[in-house]
Amino acid sequence: RKAVTITTLNTLREQGEKITMLTCYDASFAAMMDRCGVEILLIGDSLGMVCQGHSSTLPVTNNDVAYHTAAVARGNDKAFIIADMPFGTYATPESAFNNAVQLIQAGAQMVKVEGGTWIAPIIKFLTERAIPVCAHLGLTPQSVHQLGGYKVQGKTTAAADLLKAEAQLLQEAGASLLVLEAIPAGLAKEVTDLLHIPTIGIGAGPDCSGQVLVMHDLLGVFPGRKARFVKNFMEGQTNIDAAIKAYVAAVKDKSFPAPEHCF
Ligand code: KIV
Ligand code: NA
Repeated sequence: RKAVTITTLNTLREQGEKITMLTCYDASFAAMMDRCGVEILLIGDSLGMVCQGHSSTLPVTNNDVAYHTAAVARGNDKAFIIADMPFGTYATPESAFNNAVQLIQAGAQMVKVEGGTWIAPIIKFLTERAIPVCAHLGLTPQSVHQLGGYKVQGKTTAAADLLKAEAQLLQEAGASLLVLEAIPAGLAKEVTDLLHIPTIGIGAGPDCSGQVLVMHDLLGVFPGRKARFVKNFMEGQTNIDAAIKAYVAAVKDKSFPAPEHCF
């Protein structure tokens, strides 16, 4: 396949073909996911939990994400690479720019930031300086202490209206993609229909432009309680390659997420 670019992702959205994204933290998995046809590799700050063993994403540093991004970039050939900006690394435009530059220089093609209204000027500042940005709304794990836990977001009419307004604001500010995490499927569909940029869902129903999962969840290796939206794609497979291919196929044919994975 040809190298995946932001143009590829927009074309997939326009054509109604679902976009596949997985988190990835090292070179070997990057090479495998790339060969399996995954379009986007995300160096998520979830690495703080699945790789480092922390109980949240808050301790992750920009150097940590840069280290994993460089490894992923070495293993990858054609997939599009997005790196998460960790907690506290994008509170001001200048700090966001300096930290994003480190991630782009490590091999990311886009950075992802969590937040609503307050982050619009940050997105504008980065995109005006040639750093593509993926926004992230709904359950934003870096705000766990403000949200009072990892809970489904956007359930009231007021919260849903705010999320829709914020999605449009972030698109206007220059965001190229939007991750929607743990929101009602109907709200995610409304947001997706409102926007002209692709949406990528995790616990956000089947109507987003694409789907993302944490690779450890897809492989069933993350210990502890499994979130509703998680599916272990190793079930029924005998190797990791087949599990990743099964995930790609299930997203493309819209059999994942099924109703039992949605809110
Ligand atoms: O850090 C991460 O893995 C993420 C995805 C779940 C979207 O942000
Ligand atoms: Na993240």
